[in-house]
Amino acid sequence: MREIVVSGIRSTGNLHLGNYYGALRNFVKMQHEHDCYFFIADLHSLTTHPDPKMLHTNVKSILAEYLAAGLDPEACALFVQSDVPEVAELYLLLNMHVYIGELERTVSFKEKVRKQPENVNAGLLTYPTLMAADILLHRATKVPVGKDQEQHLEMTRRFARRFNTIYGTEFFPEPASYNFGAESIKIPGLDGSGKMGKSEGNCIYLLDDEKTLRKKVMRAVTDEGPKTPNAPKSEPVENLFTIMRIVSEPDTTAYFEEKYNTCEIRYGDMKKQLADDILKVTLPIRERILEIQNNDEYMRKVVAQGAEKARESAAKTLKEVKKIMGFRSF
Ligand code: TYM
Repeated sequence: MREIVVSGIRSTGNLHLGNYYGALRNFVKMQHEHDCYFFIADLHSLTTHPDPKMLHTNVKSILAEYLAAGLDPEACALFVQSDVPEVAELYLLLNMHVYIGELERTVSFKEKVRKQPENVNAGLLTYPTLMAADILLHRATKVPVGKDQEQHLEMTRRFARRFNTIYGTEFFPEPASYNFGAESIKIPGLDGSGKMGKSEGNCIYLLDDEKTLRKKVMRAVTDEGPKTPNAPKSEPVENLFTIMRIVSEPDTTAYFEEKYNTCEIRYGDMKKQLADDILKVTLPIRERILEIQNNDEYMRKVVAQGAEKARESAAKTLKEVKKIMGFRSF
């Protein structure tokens, strides 16, 4: 079945392995089979007050990374969120049926309140509404995201259901999260706990050169090694295995599992292998990023074409939404 697919990545820094395996790789796989809308979420990045001098540069670097990873602007709509102003209008309309209490209970919001109490702005609180607007604007059925976005997607489904119920319509489908190989993915960081994330400072970037990448992997947190056969793994070691299961061949992971279970593992060897396998994926992408990065003319064409495709679909949805809500022209 042909699905309508929508997804985006915030423009707050370069793309890391979590972004790639949680989202981008799936974008590339889905683009030829479905109607896909992939964007760079620059409006979402405003919640952290980026330096205006950097805003455009950040968007450009993500665009180069999207293209280098294999997104084909002829196959999908590839655009910048702020080039489609319809999203802001849908965000406003949806917000009328979104309640402060449910926004305050969002895990990502509570985390921000804890981490940056000096900047708890309304954009942060209503972040899930803007994300729902991104998705519902194209009446998406599938949203390729990593595990950390599941709650936002659940809220999107709730807002869609609520709209349909209030206005007695079936207008919005309830979008499902999507990942090849069934389960959503969470790529852990290299610092022993938690996810790989831009604000966590524990990332391997697609743009890392070989030396930097090897150094990061070799320095990843581990433990003193297993003392008894088949011992349970500590979190930092489990994290390395998690990345290996995603990046390396099954045989390779099985080999190191066996070594771990027989207490013969040398983490240095495992890390070297892991770095080799990551580099196989990232180095060719890195080379293409460097090529595309300076091709302003090409990037300009790509986003103009993407915005046109996205705005066409957005305008159609918004017109219907306003009709359903009772707006009429004189
Ligand atoms: P963002 O920019 O934080 O992350 C972009 C995508 O990368 C995934 N991801 C991960 N997946 C697995 N393991 C990790 N460690 C990891 N870190 C990040 C995220 O799940 C996401 O898929 N709010 C979104 C951007 C957004 C969006 C949307 C996504 C805005 N509107 C509409 C989908 C649909 C965000 O901040 O993702």
